[in-house]
Amino acid sequence: MPMNRRTVLAAAGTGLALVSGAGFWRVTRVPQTATLPWRLDPTPPADVRLDAFRHAILAPNPHNRQPWLIQLMGKDEALIRCDLNKRLPETDPFDRQITIGFGTFIELARMAAAERGVRMDIIPFPEGEAFPRLDDRPVARLKFTPDPMVIKDMLFAHIPTRRSNKEPYDLSRAVSEDLAAQVADREAAFSVDAKFVGSLRAAVLDALLIEQMAPLKYGESVNLIRIGHTEVDANPDGIDLVGAQIEALKAIGMLDRTQLADPKSQSFQIGLEQLQAAYGSIPALVWITSPDNSRADQLETGRRYVRANLRATSLGLGMHPMSQSLQEYPAVKTAFDRIHRLLGATGTQRVQMLARIGYGPLVTPSPRWPLEKHIRS
Ligand SMILES: Cc1cc2nc3c(=O)[nH]c(=O)nc-3n(C[C@H](O)[C@H](O)[C@H](O)COP(=O)(O)O)c2cc1C
Repeated sequence: MPMNRRTVLAAAGTGLALVSGAGFWRVTRVPQTATLPWRLDPTPPADVRLDAFRHAILAPNPHNRQPWLIQLMGKDEALIRCDLNKRLPETDPFDRQITIGFGTFIELARMAAAERGVRMDIIPFPEGEAFPRLDDRPVARLKFTPDPMVIKDMLFAHIPTRRSNKEPYDLSRAVSEDLAAQVADREAAFSVDAKFVGSLRAAVLDALLIEQMAPLKYGESVNLIRIGHTEVDANPDGIDLVGAQIEALKAIGMLDRTQLADPKSQSFQIGLEQLQAAYGSIPALVWITSPDNSRADQLETGRRYVRANLRATSLGLGMHPMSQSLQEYPAVKTAFDRIHRLLGATGTQRVQMLARIGYGPLVTPSPRWPLEKHIRS
């Protein structure tokens, strides 16, 4: 498979997806420090909690905001809180997706602790679930206890190579029912049925367009776009646009946040088309429905989702969450209702994650802040 750099004009929830051609720009013009957290030192930190968290910060999370604040308590506990400035009020008004991104974080921490023979007990929202939005109270209290009976997780090995693969998938390569079932592994639902997938695809694309054309919603993404290697290294989060073409367009003044935000600009139009092409290439779908929409449900969704993402990685499949139709603002309600109807979610049930899976090009890791940035005294 060709190695495709993350040479895109946007790709995380929204934005442009302008894949770079052969680079005439020097190869060194790529982020230098932004992906260092993915290079895990083979000598782990002595404190198992730090070992757990250096893996946890590699978790998938909405818009790569990495809102995780870690307070180490005594010798064997940690409190996890949300950095309230890193939420997404326009597209995630009730911090639902942000909370799912704490579930992914906690699950990777648990796996890494188990690898060291340590059980990680999780007390979700020990001071109560925060509604309608998260607040200063902890999202979880984690306790680490050496336990010879703890079972190692085979998915642990795939943490460093897991990605959200936002590229178009190869539609000539079907995902077999058996493979999709392995990704879902009874923790998620799936479909490889072309007709059914087609009807969901329409709702996904409708919601995507609604978000792109809503200045406040799309503006939230634009403000998080980091253009070129310098910006990505300075702020290794949000939506990273890197690669030869990006650097070239930026250098000649043809790429900035103002143009990206302007629906009349060429970059916006090209980006929208490419984003639609990626979101529209759906060989198979996986989704997670929770019985309710409690904070505990959201955390559990994140844990399930990252395991499915790791299983996809282990099977050589790309996986890409598409959340626009699951969001809770009025303009997208019709698509939200349609998706819930199609996926059979009734009553208090809530579709929390919807992702396409398929064969895509290899992609490089997304940026991460170093672990130290998350630790609070
Ligand atoms: C709850 C949740 C919702 C997400 N929604 C989207 C989405 O709508 N579109 C998208 O491109 N990526 C989505 N993502 C993927 C993130 O953008 C991605 O995890 C982040 O950029 C980090 O990249 P990585 O997963 O490759 O490490 C979502 C992830 C989570 C956990």
